[in-house]
Amino acid sequence: MLLSYHPLQMPSAATPGPVRLTVRAASAAYPLTIEVGLSKNLASALDDAKLPRRRLIVSSPTVWRFHGERFRSVTSEEPILIPDGERFKNLSTVGRIYDALVNTQADRGCAIVAIGGGVVGDVAGFAAATFLRGVPIVQVPTTLLAQVDSAIGGKTGVNHALGKNLIGAFHQPLAVLVDPELLATLPRREFRSGLYEVVKYGVIASRDLFDTIDAQLRPLFARDTAALVPIIAESCRIKARIVGEDEKESGPRRVLNLGHTAGHALESVTKYRRFRHGEAVAYGMLTAAELACTRDLMPRPDRDALASLIRKMGPLPPIGDLDATQVVEAVGRDKKVVDGTLHYVVPLRIGATTIATDVTGAELQDALRVVGLRGG
Ligand SMILES: NC(=O)c1ccc[n+]([C@@H]2O[C@H](COP(=O)([O-])OP(=O)(O)OC[C@H]3O[C@@H](n4cnc5c(N)ncnc54)[C@H](O)[C@@H]3O)[C@@H](O)[C@H]2O)c1
Ligand SMILES: [Zn+2]
Repeated sequence: MLLSYHPLQMPSAATPGPVRLTVRAASAAYPLTIEVGLSKNLASALDDAKLPRRRLIVSSPTVWRFHGERFRSVTSEEPILIPDGERFKNLSTVGRIYDALVNTQADRGCAIVAIGGGVVGDVAGFAAATFLRGVPIVQVPTTLLAQVDSAIGGKTGVNHALGKNLIGAFHQPLAVLVDPELLATLPRREFRSGLYEVVKYGVIASRDLFDTIDAQLRPLFARDTAALVPIIAESCRIKARIVGEDEKESGPRRVLNLGHTAGHALESVTKYRRFRHGEAVAYGMLTAAELACTRDLMPRPDRDALASLIRKMGPLPPIGDLDATQVVEAVGRDKKVVDGTLHYVVPLRIGATTIATDVTGAELQDALRVVGLRGG
C-alpha cells in the first residue's frame, strides 16, 4: 500500500533530551540544566535545586506578557516586573526591587527567581547579591545571549551614567535553568545578536560548534529546539569551563572578550543606539581576525570562513560613517585596559585564541579600516 504524505501529520523530530552540566566556580558549584519545556515545570526544577520555599520572581513586562502563564505555579505572589532595556539597567531599578522586597517583607529565607534577558538577570542578580547582604537566586534566562552567556558565571551589576557595568558584584546563582522553547518569541534581530556570541565560542574554543552553526542556520533561525539544544549546550560547556578556571577574570576568562574590544568601542562611539551588543561583537571579531591575519597568526581561510558565516547570518548595521581613529580612542578608555595594558584577544584559527598585550593603536586602526570603517 502506498502511504500518502501528510506533512502536517508527520511526527516532528524527536525532542532532544535534557543536558545537565555543573558550573564549578571557585566560590560555588551549581547545576546548569538545558531542557526543552523545562519552564513549564519550573516549580519542581526549583525544588530539585533546593531553593527556599518562598520564591519571588523578578521579570520584565515583555517577558511576562509572552510567558507569564508558564510560571504561575512557581508562586502565588505577584512578580516584581522591572522595565526592559539597557537604559533601565541602573541603580534606580535596583531600588525598585529593594522597595518591592521590603514591602513584601522578604527575609533571608526568600529566594529570587530571575526570568528574563541579560538586563533582568544582571539587575536582579545585583539586587540578590546585596539585599540583606545576599539572598539566593536562580537564573531562568529567556534570550539566547542570556542562555549562553550572562546567566552563567555570577557577574551581576548595573550601569552608571558615565559607563556600562561600572557597579556590580559577583554572586553565583543556585542554579541556571535554560528552556530553549522560550526563544520562540524572541525577535529575529535579538536572536541573531545572541547567535554572534555563540559564533564567538566557536572561534574561541570549538571548530565543531562553528561548523554546526554554519550548517544549521535555517533550523536555528526557525528556533527548532533540536538544532538549538546542541549549540546552547556546547556554548554553556565552554563558558562554564572558562568560568571554572578563572571566576573573577584575572586570566583565562579574558578570552571570552574576543571581539569585545572593538565591539565595546563601536557601541560607545554610537552611544549604544546603533548596535545590538552581539552585532558590535561581530564587527569586533572581524577586526580581531583581520589583525591576526596581518600578524600571520591566523590563516586567511579561517578569517574568510568567519566573514562568510557572519555575512550569511544576516545584515549588520552600517559602519562606513564611523571614524577608525575615534574607535581606537574609545578602546583606550575600555575596562579591558588594566594598568595601561590592553589585553587583546587574538584568534589563532577557528577554535583557538591567545592574548596579546602589545597590540598598537595603529594596528587596530588598520584592521578597523579593512573591516569597513572610515580612515582617520
Ligand atoms: N553578567 C554577564 O556575565 C553578562 C554577559 C554578557 C552580557 N551581559 C549583559 O546582558 C545584557 C544584554 O542582555 P540581552 O541581550 O538578553 O538583552 P535584554 O535583556 O535587553 O533583552 C533583549 C530584549 O528581548 C526581550 N525578551 C527577553 N526574552 C524574550 C523572549 N523570550 N521573547 C521575546 N522577547 C524577549 C526583552 O524584553 C528585551 O526587550 C547587557 O546589559 C549586558 O551587559 C551580562
Ligand atoms: Zn558579549
